[in-house]
Formats: sequence, C-alpha cells, structure tokens
Amino acid sequence: MTVIREFLANDGFGLKKADILVMAFPMHNFGIPALAKAWMDAVILKGETFEMGQKMMKGKKALTIFTSGGFYSEDKFNFDYPNWNTIALLAKVNFTFMGFDESEIIGTSLRDEKTREENLEKMQQEIHKLVKKWYE
Ligand SMILES: Cc1cc2nc3c(=O)[nH]c(=O)nc-3n(C[C@H](O)[C@H](O)[C@H](O)COP(=O)(O)O)c2cc1C
Repeated sequence: MTVIREFLANDGFGLKKADILVMAFPMHNFGIPALAKAWMDAVILKGETFEMGQKMMKGKKALTIFTSGGFYSEDKFNFDYPNWNTIALLAKVNFTFMGFDESEIIGTSLRDEKTREENLEKMQQEIHKLVKKWYE
C-alpha cells in the first residue's frame, strides 16, 4: 500500500467525513495552480475517492473559489474569451466524476484597484448565499 493510499484510506484529508469540500486559489494561466492540482491528483484515487460507475462522494458538495486578473465565465468553457476558464472545467469534471452531488464555482477579478474590494464583497455574498442554501 502506498503512503498516499494509506493516508486516504484512514481519511487523512478528512474527505470522507466532510459534507463540503472547499478549494480556494488564484487562477494561474487560465487554470488551477500547480500545487492545488497536485493535491487533486493525489486525492483522486481509485478505490478511495472514485470508482467507475459509482458515486463515492455521494452526499457531499464541492465549492471551488478562485480569484483572477480578468473576469471569466464560471459555468462554461470554450475557446472564445472570456470563457477560457479551465478551473471551472476541471473542477466540474473531476468532482462530478468522483460523485459529488453538486460542484459550484465562484470566482472574481482583482485586477482593477477601483473595483477589487467591491468584487471581493460580491463574491463573499455569493458564497454566503450558497452555503446558506446548502446548510438549510
Ligand atoms: C503565474 C501566474 C499566472 C497567472 N495567470 C492568470 C491568468 O491566466 N488569468 C488571470 O486572469 N489572472 C492570472 N494571474 C493573476 C492571479 O490570478 C491574481 O494575481 C490572483 O488572483 C491574486 O490577485 P492579486 O495578485 O491582485 O492579489 C496569474 C498570476 C500568476 C502569478
């Protein structure tokens, strides 16, 4: 048994007992930063957190929060800017694959000093709204 499999089998990251998985990071090159992606690659493990045709993460929800320079669509990916958001694509695909009941993505732009605080405030409100819905 590899160290990471043993760690996951013992619920080392708390994924098995968690109701909600929250990931938060800045956008790097239209995607998930390398360290966060490395974490995902480590925990998405056959027999522990996914199994083909099964929903191992059933009953759980995933929330992915990101900040970026520009504004991106949070719910779609295609090759027309501003839809170059591979964070949304990867998070949706992988969390659905693992069997999470829901996978939401919330992001905002921090580039403009004038709107930065306002954007963060709006994002916070969106997160509160979603968490309230999930816990009601
Ligand atoms: C290596 C690197 C790559 C980045 N790539 C993108 C990108 O593809 N798109 C984007 O909008 N912002 C990009 N950014 C900007 C970050 O997302 C932004 O710095 C982060 O959200 C935090 O904002 P702040 O630096 O203003 O605090 C990148 C930043 C770094 C350091």
